[in-house]
Amino acid sequence: MPLAGKKILLGVCGSIAAYKSALLIRLLVKNGADVNVIMTAAAHDFITPLTLSTLSKNPVLTRFSKDETGQWNNHVALGLWADVMVIAPASANTLAKMANGICDNLLLATYLSARCPVLFAPAMDLDMWQHPSTQSNLDKLTGFGNRLIEPAHGELASGLIGTGRMAEPEQILETLNHFFKPGRLAGKKALVTAGPTYEAIDPVRFIGNHSTGKMGFAIAEELWLRGAEVTLVSGPTHLTPPAQVNFIQVTSAEEMFDASQQHFGSSDIVVFSAAVADYKPAHKAGQKIKKGSSPMVVELVKTHDIAAELGKQKKPGQVTIGFALETENEKANAQSKLRAKNFDLIVLNSLNDAGAGFGHDTNKITLLSASSAREFNLKSKKEVAADIVTAIIEHAYA
Ligand SMILES: Cc1cc2nc3c(=O)[nH]c(=O)nc-3n(C[C@H](O)[C@H](O)[C@H](O)COP(=O)(O)O)c2cc1C
Repeated sequence: MPLAGKKILLGVCGSIAAYKSALLIRLLVKNGADVNVIMTAAAHDFITPLTLSTLSKNPVLTRFSKDETGQWNNHVALGLWADVMVIAPASANTLAKMANGICDNLLLATYLSARCPVLFAPAMDLDMWQHPSTQSNLDKLTGFGNRLIEPAHGELASGLIGTGRMAEPEQILETLNHFFKPGRLAGKKALVTAGPTYEAIDPVRFIGNHSTGKMGFAIAEELWLRGAEVTLVSGPTHLTPPAQVNFIQVTSAEEMFDASQQHFGSSDIVVFSAAVADYKPAHKAGQKIKKGSSPMVVELVKTHDIAAELGKQKKPGQVTIGFALETENEKANAQSKLRAKNFDLIVLNSLNDAGAGFGHDTNKITLLSASSAREFNLKSKKEVAADIVTAIIEHAYA
């Protein structure tokens, strides 16, 4: 039973479909999951907390604090506790708030605090579902990496017929079973480098680049979702690492090299997605450099070429994947980088493609091996990560 022992946080919103959450809880508990329920205030109009707490065998929470004692219902701890958060039914109202970072109830605060994957099963009337604002919120939410459990087509509570019925509890159970079944990469160790590196000029200045780390973080999470044990070595970013990966924060290329070398030998899969500086200042000034009247020259020396140096230590069976960001002769340049660095696959981003590369939530890639090239459409970085991990599996473990 893939759900045995899994910690599931179920969010229930104000929808006629809230009665289905009782059935869902029964199924989850029967399958061995530990279920905690958070209801919105509106959900209380549709089903009682007594029903859901009896079925889940845990107190149901709605408010930020307990009335009698004033004790805090700790949304941060709840978010960290869960292996997965499922919002079912997810109302149009709550989806809109989730898409916009609104945090005016316990369910939303917990959603914002959760480091685990989040699945949501919308339920609403067909016109609410089709409304451009709802559709745009869905795009935003899936772009953030949340997983949509599609509503079904059929008779709705309003009597209208269309799309908007919440997925049946059995289907949500099946989705969760699939989600938790041992992944194709179970037993494999993966190392991912991500983000930029900062090369210090003096104590306050550095040479860096515009990498946000989003692509590497998404790949690390996707590798974990497919069952791998993941180490993520990242330069400075504003991102929160997935809770389930071994996260190593570094600053410079030198530090990234040291951390990557430590884990390279024991890794089955290595993805070099970091934008590592090629050069660093030859000397770091001990004190802040003062502005002078003459031009300033900073002498640069090469940094470690992490992928190339580790590529030389590659063991049989180890799979390495590199990234190439090119502006001209893209495919030819990427192919020669693949050969020079001994990669199995290389992910090519072109700065000529709108929405690809640094800073965007989307990316458009071409995946090259020594003998093939496959172009993908513009997608969210989460979806691109899924394509890259699927390609790794097909290349090395099919
Ligand atoms: C009878 C009834 C049924 C409703 N069903 C739905 C529904 O299926 N989906 C939905 O998004 N909103 C539905 N609503 C509206 C929500 O309850 C309302 O937007 C509420 O503010 C949602 O709050 P919540 O997102 O905090 O749970 C319904 C309202 C009523 C009165």
